[in-house]
Amino acid sequence: MPDTFSTEAKAELKKLMDSYPDRMSAVMNALHLTQREFGYISYEALEALSKEMDLPVQQLEDTASFYTMYFKEPVGENVIWVCHTLPCALRGSANVFEYLKDKLEIDAGETTNDNRFTLMKAECLASCGSAPMMQVNDDYFEDLTEEKIDKILGKFY
Ligand code: FES
Repeated sequence: MPDTFSTEAKAELKKLMDSYPDRMSAVMNALHLTQREFGYISYEALEALSKEMDLPVQQLEDTASFYTMYFKEPVGENVIWVCHTLPCALRGSANVFEYLKDKLEIDAGETTNDNRFTLMKAECLASCGSAPMMQVNDDYFEDLTEEKIDKILGKFY
């Protein structure tokens, strides 16, 4: 894991900050960029961001700790979020989760031994009409069945 931002990331961060009326408004996107750069939001990553944004670490940490989308610990190469809110639950999200759990041999918050997948439970991801669904990295996969899950996971090997 790097201990500072790359030159490219610094430039991207500056551009990001310049596009907002004030620095605080840029924090959420800056945290996404930080996560991409460092892999997760460690204290060292927050310190590096604090330096770049000239904002207190505590202020950045408050935002990062509020949202589950910012990882506080290292995660695998691909993060699977299974929605477990009511509409998905009514259409079998618990089965989807159990299937993934058995197949990957990990529980919520855990990462496979080969570091390929981290499994998470998510609150509603705003795709209730195509429940049950999951997000893998930035992509949505909907109307899930065990066959579909097998195919989706196969893309990551
Ligand atoms: S309840 Fe699962 S996407 Fe909304």
